[in-house]
Formats: sequence, structure tokens, C-alpha cells
Amino acid sequence: MSWIKEGSLSWLQAACVKVVRSGQVPRHVAFIMDGNRRFAAKTNVLKVEGHSKGFDKLAETLRWCLDLGVPEVTVYAFSIENFKRSKDEVDGLMDLARQKFKKLLEEKEKLREHGVRICVIGNLSLVPADLQELIKEAMEATQSHDKAFLNVAFAYTAKEEMANVIGEVAGGVRDGGLLGQDVGTKLFDACLYTRHLPQVDLLIRTSGEVRFSDFMLWQASYSCIYFTDVLWPEFDIWSLLRAVLCYQMKYPALQRLRLKEEKSVLAAEEQQEARIENFLSALNSKRALSFL
Ligand code: FPP
Ligand code: MG
Repeated sequence: MSWIKEGSLSWLQAACVKVVRSGQVPRHVAFIMDGNRRFAAKTNVLKVEGHSKGFDKLAETLRWCLDLGVPEVTVYAFSIENFKRSKDEVDGLMDLARQKFKKLLEEKEKLREHGVRICVIGNLSLVPADLQELIKEAMEATQSHDKAFLNVAFAYTAKEEMANVIGEVAGGVRDGGLLGQDVGTKLFDACLYTRHLPQVDLLIRTSGEVRFSDFMLWQASYSCIYFTDVLWPEFDIWSLLRAVLCYQMKYPALQRLRLKEEKSVLAAEEQQEARIENFLSALNSKRALSFL
């Protein structure tokens, strides 16, 4: 299976997509693709086959997101915690990734047609060297595409991402490139693996589990979170449309919260500027007086 599943929607699906598209469409949707092994057990296949079906569903979901006009998709494909699974399963998932990134390089043309750029985020030093190389090639092959963006979180956890930022920033302060007062949420945002992504509007988790599992903890603070019982390989366009409708209903409240947050950041910046201005004008007056 390719990275984008070709195929057309039924007339009913196409009509519903059109209705949903007329409302507020999320710019960035993130997925915790959970339930592959339960699907494997349910259908009597090997775990790795469950993960392979999970990849096929990702390709189908990407197609639906393009149909809906969602330009940015991020998926949790392999967490650092997943390294603790059995050797067989971890090796199976690494082989699946090798196979899919090789396939991506073979079908560059198709991704170019759709303008899809692939970006892998996470601590890639933890994955085998040959896979690191394939990932680098895949990212380079699509780096000029700019219509849609698929971000694959691989060897990723939010805590590791945040610890990495803290390490980098602490290094910057220690080496004198940064001052203590430079450290704040703006700098933190700009140091994350996701620094080039827009904020997550909608986060979808499948399989009935209702937790974040260390995914995008910083980025999802003002996102709509949607949980569904369906196992990831059984996710369908109706589940996606339901999630987007839920986002559309929550959008006004989310937007109010986001604007409030933006305003308080701006107010803090303005206060800082005003403080500095007052201080400088007082200093100038003091100096002027000392000349008299
Ligand atoms: C969670 O289900 C799924 C994963 C740990 C792996 C997800 C990977 C894919 C869908 C393939 C993506 C591959 C590439 C190359 C992008 P689970 O294993 O936790 O299943 P369970 O909850 O039923 O135990
Ligand atoms: Mg799971």
C-alpha cells in the first residue's frame, strides 16, 4: 500500500464531506493510532499484520484529510515507550517502517502530484542507522512540496521532546548565547521538534483509551480532544467526519480560549516593553539633572 490511498468517495460520502467543508475545517489534525494489536487478535492475524493494516488505514485517512481540506496531519507511529515491547514486535515495526520509507522513495512522483511533504519528528538517534538514512532521504525527497504535510512521530515522546528543549536552552544560557530572561514559552515553542507546525486543532485517539500516552503534551493544550472506541485499522471516514463535527461545535469556545491566551502573552510583552521604557526615561532624566 502507498502512502496515499487513491480512490473516490461514494456520492453520500462526497456530499457529507462537502457539508463539513463548508464549516470551520481544522488546519492541523493529530492521530494516536491505537488498537492495532487488538485488531490483530480479533481477526486472528499476527501483531505485525495488525500494524501493517494500521499503515494502510493511515494512507486512507490521509486521502480523506486531503478531501476535507486538512493540510497538516501528524501521526504517532512509534513511541519511545514502544521500544519496551518484545524484540519480535519492535523488529517487525522497524521492518515495516523500512519497507514503507523505501516505497515512499519509489513513488515520489505520486507525493509530488499531491504536494505532500513528509517530516519525521522524534529522537531519531534511537532508531537503527539504515532506517535513519531512509528517513532522511524520504524527508529530502519531499522537502519542496507545500500543499499538505504529514508529520510522523517516530521514536517520540512529549517528555523526551521537552527534556531535549530544556537541555538545549540550558546549554544556550551556560554558553552565554541566551540570558535567563530570554527563557519563556515563546523560546520553548521555537525549540520543539514541532516548531515548524501550526498548533494542533484536533487530536483523535482510537481504541477506547482516554489518555495522551505522552503525545504532544505541550502542543495540545488548546486542542479539541476526540476519543473513539473504534480500533485504528477499523477507523472510517464517518469516524473522521464525526470528530471534525465535534471540533466545529467546540470551535467558538476553543477560539475564545486561544485569543485570551494570545492576549495575555501580548500583554506581558507590552508590560515588559513599558517597564524598560519607564526605566530608560527615568535614567535619562537623572542623567540630565546631574548635568545641571
Ligand atoms: C498502537 O497500537 C500502534 C502502534 C504502536 C504502531 C502504529 C504504527 C502504524 C500504524 C504504522 C505506521 C508506520 C509508518 C512507517 C508510518 P497498539 O500496538 O498499541 O495496539 P493495542 O492498543 O491493541 O495493543
Ligand atoms: Mg495500544
